[in-house]
Amino acid sequence: MNAQPPPTHRLLTGQNALVTGANSGIGEGIARELAAAGANVVVNYVVQPDAAQTICDDINKAGGKAIAIRADVSREDQVQAMFAEAVRQFGTLDIVCSNAGIQRDAKLVDMTLDQWNQVIGVNLTGGFLVAREAAREFLRRGMRDVSCALGKIIFTSSVHQEIPWAGHCNYATTKGGMMQLMESIAQELAPQKIRVNSICPGAIKTPINHKAWATPEAEAALEKLIPCGRVGVPADVARVVAWLASDQADYLYGASIYIDGGMTLYPGFATGG
Ligand code: BGC
Repeated sequence: MNAQPPPTHRLLTGQNALVTGANSGIGEGIARELAAAGANVVVNYVVQPDAAQTICDDINKAGGKAIAIRADVSREDQVQAMFAEAVRQFGTLDIVCSNAGIQRDAKLVDMTLDQWNQVIGVNLTGGFLVAREAAREFLRRGMRDVSCALGKIIFTSSVHQEIPWAGHCNYATTKGGMMQLMESIAQELAPQKIRVNSICPGAIKTPINHKAWATPEAEAALEKLIPCGRVGVPADVARVVAWLASDQADYLYGASIYIDGGMTLYPGFATGG
């Protein structure tokens, strides 16, 4: 095992964060890391309330502050109710991570309209609804002295905003769309000092891709796509998010940060081409 970098210390003290899809996987990692960096955290979930509550309990026991709020991000009424509840409990929000995402994989010829619509609904429409409510709250509340920015919006995109993915056209389409959503609103909101950026994880060990690393054979095949030779873990991504949300990244607007062990470096070309 390689040595792990230390946790991001107290970069976010006094700030309030909301993370969608925070009951497992990358979202859970982000919620825990933002709390370790000093932020109060809303742990959003739609299923597995117990998992969300355990994460909040762990954070609260460690001296942080976390609350769980249920909302399906593809539903406008539920997203608005979640923001209202977060503001009621925390006063306002400074950091919003639009992270919730799903896969419903199928070859094009087998894909149902339902599989297409579900993925568009959560990954893309959910991103729009969450970002809109975040921007409305930042603008309503105005500057506060916990950050140089009026607010930060961070999308969890994917290497598949760039890499095409056979058998997953619904998912890849949402991530390509998310790139334009992120860049367009980053351009629109930058004059108000709202920083909008994306992180683009590669293969990270989470429930969404469990099959791809569940056996040693599967993991070895996956590693062939990763120049650094290691499948990632949520903390690899979460550390970057904590930094991106902090004033250390104050000049970052509209960036896509690939956190992928080199997956987007076309590893097939290392020996061919
Ligand atoms: C997907 C994972 C996949 C990874 C790399 C992610 O966006 O959700 O299932 O392992 O991209 O292909």
